[in-house]
Amino acid sequence: MTVRKAVSESLLMDIDRHYLWHPYTQMKDFEQEDFLFIDHGDGVFLFDPSGMRYYDTISSWWCMVHGHNHPRIKEAVRQQLDRLEHVHFAGTTHEGAVRVAKELVRITPDKLQRVFYSDNGSTACEVAVKMSFQYWKHAGEPQREMFVSLERGYHGDTIGMLGLGGVPGFQGPFDALTFDSFRIPSPYCCRCAHRGGPGMGSDSPGAGICALECLDPLERLLDERGDEVAGIILEPLLQGAGGMIVYPVEYLARLGDLTARYGTHLIFDEVATGFGRTGKMFALEHSNIVPDFLCLSKGLTAGYLPMAATLTTEDIYQAFYADYSEGKTFFHGHTFTANPLSCAAALASLEIFEQEEVVERLEEKVEVLQQGTGRFLDLELVGDVRGIGMVAAFELVQDSESMTPFPPEIRAGWQVYREGLKNGLILRPLGDVVYILPPLSITVDQMEDVLDRTYEILSGIRIK
Ligand SMILES: Cc1ncc(COP(=O)(O)O)c(C=O)c1O
Repeated sequence: MTVRKAVSESLLMDIDRHYLWHPYTQMKDFEQEDFLFIDHGDGVFLFDPSGMRYYDTISSWWCMVHGHNHPRIKEAVRQQLDRLEHVHFAGTTHEGAVRVAKELVRITPDKLQRVFYSDNGSTACEVAVKMSFQYWKHAGEPQREMFVSLERGYHGDTIGMLGLGGVPGFQGPFDALTFDSFRIPSPYCCRCAHRGGPGMGSDSPGAGICALECLDPLERLLDERGDEVAGIILEPLLQGAGGMIVYPVEYLARLGDLTARYGTHLIFDEVATGFGRTGKMFALEHSNIVPDFLCLSKGLTAGYLPMAATLTTEDIYQAFYADYSEGKTFFHGHTFTANPLSCAAALASLEIFEQEEVVERLEEKVEVLQQGTGRFLDLELVGDVRGIGMVAAFELVQDSESMTPFPPEIRAGWQVYREGLKNGLILRPLGDVVYILPPLSITVDQMEDVLDRTYEILSGIRIK
């Protein structure tokens, strides 16, 4: 049995090499090396065909909030499959779509009253940007055509969102394809340009040292050209793909003041931070700032099926609500918008959040994770340790005093990833930032085990 499986697995990998092209992957890496072949998942674990168990340390790209193989979500999808698997959503509706929308409006701030569905995080953000853009045409300020985004921000890989992203390397050769926009600095505290440079990771406005100078360029921009700006898009409190950069809540407060003063739309991309990740259901709950658009995906279906939602205000919705002949329709949609199976998974997940008090019960796990990372700062190759809620990140550097990075070609983060696999962890890094972002369903014991294993790897590895 084992032999048959091993043979078919390696054969499948050969067929994969022959036919497939994986995302974010230099396929040549796998010319000799094996893929991580996953057979099944259960709870916080993924298993290869031989039975080797891996912690799903990054929640399968940040979406498996309740873990794998959850009986309630599986059952909900199964039942929906017997009823309706798919129907287009233009002028059609169904129970799941209605119920999920009502629930999303209930659990988000009052100002957010309308839900527009799509099917992935990039489209959730594209929808917000397009709605904002068109809104200003209807609202009598057609000159507001520019968007502001952050360095190290990430909102997806479509050409539109690539243009509003600022992750070094992701733009690659595509710059010429993207539309013009304004870019402001990232609140990348451990490499803060205003505090005398590197090594200032623990600064916070609360400590009285930081005056949020990284927002000064935005203030100047809005002062000079605010009437051209339609909106600003950002990931509240945690820039995920940009390197798990955690920034202070005071940043959002000043940003909220500025956008209110200049009438600019605020677009919160909570594709990654939504659904408990920061220790609250939504990251916006850490502040009093409510955006004009809230973009959700990933954890919306607990990772079981693709789905996204863009929430907005009644005021924005009403600007589009008119006789057809007025030409105010929002012409945007995707084939799998509000797919009934996805809605069933989302509804089941939202019920689990509510009935099992998932967010309310996170406190101890958050404490174990955040307290458990302090010791990592003693490691020679760790330049910065940062975290929020159920995310902890370690920035690997060649020299932690000067925060000098490793030369990119040695792929320090990738070396750690490989070691992780030998130790039952999937520590897929973001460049040289290694992070832990487990399913919220992880137990305290499992969390301690993940931390211990990660520490062992980082203290034992010799990057070469
Ligand atoms: C904050 C954020 N926005 C948007 C996206 C894009 O989502 P998707 O990959 O589903 O298009 C991601 C994906 O990682 C993300 O982290």
